[in-house]
Amino acid sequence: MRRYLIAGNWKMNKTNNEAIDLARRIVLNTKGIEKIDIVICPPFTALAPVYDAIKDSNVRPGAQNMYYEDEGAYTGEISGKFLKAMGCEFVIIGHSERRKYFSESDTDVNKKIKKALSFGITPIVCVGETLEEREKGKTADVVKKEIIGALQEQTDKEKIIFAYEPIWAIGTGKTAQPEDANKIHNLIRNIIKTDFGMDETVVRVLYGGSVNPSNAEALMSQPDIDGSLVGGASLDVKSFVEIITTSANLA
Ligand code: 13P
Repeated sequence: MRRYLIAGNWKMNKTNNEAIDLARRIVLNTKGIEKIDIVICPPFTALAPVYDAIKDSNVRPGAQNMYYEDEGAYTGEISGKFLKAMGCEFVIIGHSERRKYFSESDTDVNKKIKKALSFGITPIVCVGETLEEREKGKTADVVKKEIIGALQEQTDKEKIIFAYEPIWAIGTGKTAQPEDANKIHNLIRNIIKTDFGMDETVVRVLYGGSVNPSNAEALMSQPDIDGSLVGGASLDVKSFVEIITTSANLA
């Protein structure tokens, strides 16, 4: 049985005080929810106080990115080694915003996944197509290319979590139709099974892109959707907790 996972990607939002406040409220309002995994990914600057605020709770510590070298002359970067030392358990890798604004390639994504796994940090690997690619009927090709890039020469592959995030649905209020999203999730399972011999029944595949309290139930009810990577709605306690509760009720 795959456990639902709801992860909040706070992106570049929240000063430390705001982050601590949000984390505390999430902890308070999700007490007793044990059937699903809840993860929050604050900005790097807020990791230490937020991890402190969620310790001894059922909210798990995540991060939004990491570099694949352990240490050295890489100005501005944060390594998996540092994240591990802070207690980080999940890390988002290859988010479309990183691919777009920071030119992350499939090779970078692959190296970061390898390094995260070596530290026992679970990578949440994002894949998804742009609107233009979708309109040209290239969704399957784009997703397949990103998955293949991510999985080359990996061990412990079943520990990887995938997040299908159609880029046109991120921050736009437009969500993929649940059945359409499910088809891509199913495609991801087929690729990992056929091309990489993985047990597709155990790998979690999350959906991301304008998930909110009103569409969460329809999305989470799909057989191949195992949870969600939530952006905007994760910055609002009420919305995030509603998405969590909805998913817990389906679990
Ligand atoms: P939104 O939920 O704001 O669309 O963002 C989704 C996302 O990018 C999560 O990683």
